[in-house]
Formats: sequence, C-alpha cells, structure tokens
Amino acid sequence: MLLNNALQHSHELMARALKPGDRALDATAGNGKDTLHLARLIGSTGEVVAVDIQKQALDNTQNLLKKENLINQVQLIEGNHAQIDKLTSGSFQVAVFNLGYLPGGDHEIITEPESTLRALKKVMPMIRPGGLITLVAYHGHPGGKNELTALEKFLPSLDQKKVAVLQYSFINQAGDPPVLFALEVLEGADYLDP
Ligand SMILES: C[S@@+](CC[C@H](N)C(=O)[O-])C[C@H]1O[C@@H](n2cnc3c(N)ncnc32)[C@H](O)[C@@H]1O
Repeated sequence: MLLNNALQHSHELMARALKPGDRALDATAGNGKDTLHLARLIGSTGEVVAVDIQKQALDNTQNLLKKENLINQVQLIEGNHAQIDKLTSGSFQVAVFNLGYLPGGDHEIITEPESTLRALKKVMPMIRPGGLITLVAYHGHPGGKNELTALEKFLPSLDQKKVAVLQYSFINQAGDPPVLFALEVLEGADYLDP
C-alpha cells in the first residue's frame, strides 16, 4: 500500500529527524520496536533513553536490543514518564510516545491522559530546535478515547511560532486506526530550556 499507517509514518519522521550520534528518548519502551528503530538511526555514537513503567516491558526491550546487537547505545529506565525530569536529563533530538497498553502484557496497565500530558509538557523543553516528538494514540481500548481527546484538546493550544503540530490518521478504516501526532520544535523558537 502506498500510504503509511500512523506507526509507519512516525518511523519515517524519526528517520528524517535523526542522524548518527544524536540522542533520542523513547517514553514508552513497551516491546522495544520503537527503541530498536531509534537505536539503528542514532548508531553506536548516539544514545537512546528508553523508559517504561513496567519491568516486563524493559526486559522485552532489552532482549530485542541484545538480539540485534544494539544494546550498548540504549539506556533502560524503569519509571513513570510523568516524572521524566527525575529519570533523565539533557536534551534530545527526538522523543517518542507510543500510547496504550503493552502488547502481549497486562491490558489494564495503560498510558493515562493526565500522566501523558504531564510527560509531554516536561519533554517539550528537552527537545532541541529542529527536533521532533511523535505520539501514536491507540484508542480502541477502554480509556484510549479519553487520551486521544485530551491530546486533541491540548495540542492545538501550542504556539505555532514555537512548534508545528500535525495530526495523521486514516479516516475511513474500521477498527479505530491509531492517530499520529507529530510535533516539530521550530528552529529559532528558543524552546529549549536553558
Ligand atoms: C503501546 S505500548 C509501547 C509499545 C512500544 N513503543 C513498542 O514499540 O513495542 C505502551 C507502553 O507504555 C507503558 N506505560 C504506561 N504508562 C506509562 C507511564 N506512565 N510511564 C512510562 N511508561 C508507561 C506501558 O507499560 C507499555 O509498555
């Protein structure tokens, strides 16, 4: 198919935004597929910080990255991304949120609107000008719609001089196709916290 789905499009944008040696944040490591993509893009001289609230997710991510021989450039952190400022520091070129539950895991442990927005507000000033934040919102599960609605309400309020915000999804597909939000922190926006 010619058109990318939300996840594929997020991966394409990450590839556009990152180069070897960059630093990237995966705020929802899950089974590690996004972390793997980021680790390939930043190469052996870069770093991916991968955060998840569940140990099982970090174990899965570690196993995948070890299998692919890319674990050396990945730092795994167990914690709540709403407290990202306590878990890591410094700036990132790209940050990734893949919302919902851990595939193959406990479907009741999900990302929540309040902590997602708190995390996003803390991550935005950590992104370098020209950098990118992607959020892929799955909304077919209980609670998913609330999170999507919270993002649809918050994101249009961001200053267009500082950040460009895009929403991307199929609009005629059955089964609640995921929605991608992509935020580009604009050059010269002075967005990065000193
Ligand atoms: C859809 S999965 C992520 C999929 C993953 N990016 C991948 O490529 O396999 C969502 C993940 O978010 C995690 N999560 C939920 N709430 C969280 C929070 N407050 N802080 C950090 N991780 C959270 C879940 O444990 C789950 O692993």
